[in-house]
Amino acid sequence: MKVTKGIILAGGTGSRLYPLTIAANKQLFPLYNKPVLYYPLSLLMLAGIRDILIISTEKDRSTIQELLGDGERLGIHCSYAIQQAPRGLPDAFIVGETFLQNEPCMLVLGDNFLYGADLSNVLQTAIQQASGAHLFVHHVEDPSAYGIMTVDAHGSIQSIVEKPQNSQSHLGIIGLYIFDGNATVYAKQLHPSQRNELEIVDLIRKYQTNDTISYSQFGRGFTWYDTGNPDDLLEVGNFVRTIETKQGLLVASLEEIALRQHFISVQQFERQVADMPNGVYKKTLIKFFNETNASNTH
Ligand code: G1P
Repeated sequence: MKVTKGIILAGGTGSRLYPLTIAANKQLFPLYNKPVLYYPLSLLMLAGIRDILIISTEKDRSTIQELLGDGERLGIHCSYAIQQAPRGLPDAFIVGETFLQNEPCMLVLGDNFLYGADLSNVLQTAIQQASGAHLFVHHVEDPSAYGIMTVDAHGSIQSIVEKPQNSQSHLGIIGLYIFDGNATVYAKQLHPSQRNELEIVDLIRKYQTNDTISYSQFGRGFTWYDTGNPDDLLEVGNFVRTIETKQGLLVASLEEIALRQHFISVQQFERQVADMPNGVYKKTLIKFFNETNASNTH
C-alpha cells in the first residue's frame, strides 16, 4: 500500500499528569531534551510520511502550532485539527476526514515513544506490505492495560481484545497503526464502548470481515512506551539521556531525520543549525553531520 498521509492524535486533557497539565500542554513536556511530540512525529518521518495532520484539543492547538508551524523547515507539511472531546482513537479518522480524503494513513498517538534499530526500514516495509489494517505489537508485561492480540502457533491472528482481564497473550498493540482508505467510513459505523469512547480494536475488527489485517512484531531489542504518566515521562527521559550520552547521537532529532530522509537539502540543514542557539543540541547535530561524512552512523 502507498501511504503518504499521517495523523498524530494528540488530544486528551492529560488527566494522569495533573497538576502538571492545569496550565501546560502535555505534548510540549520535556522528554529529556525535546518536546514529547517530537517522538511520534519522528516515527511518521522515519516512515517517509510528509503530509501530517495533528489533532489536539482547542486549548493546546496554538502552542503545538507554534512548535511546528507549517512544517516547511523540516520538509514536511503540517496541518491542524481540533478534537472537541476525547471520543476515542477512531475519532481521528472522523476529525481527519477532510484531510484524509479516503486515502490510506499511518496513525500515531501523541504520547508514543518507540526506539530500536533500523526503525525506518521496518516502518517502510510494513507500509509496503500492508493492505487493510496493519498493527504493530510488542511484548507487554500487563495485558490488561492495552489492546492485546492473540496469535496461533503459525502467527495467524486469533483475537484482538481491548484490555483483557485474563489474557495469556502479552502481544500489546502499540499506538501506531496503518489503515487503508476505508478507515473514515468504518469509524463512522462504530458505537461507543462502556468507557464511552470509540475503540480502535472495534475499528480493526471491521477489517477482519472485509479485508486483511497484518502486523509487525517488534522484538525485545525495541523499547516502546506511552508516556502519559509522570513515571513514564521520567523513565523515558532517562532512557533517551542514556542513549544520547553514550552514543553522542540524538534520538528523534527532527532536523537529522529530515536530512537523512532527503526531505531537506544539506544547505537547508546547515542554515537551520546555524540559526539555533548555542547549546548541546546544536553541538550534537554539528558533530553528527561531520561524522556522517566520515563514517556510517545509522
Ligand atoms: C489505547 C488503545 C489500546 C492501545 C493503547 C496503546 O489505549 O485503546 O488498544 O494498546 O492505546 O497506547 P488507551 O490509551 O486509550 O487506554
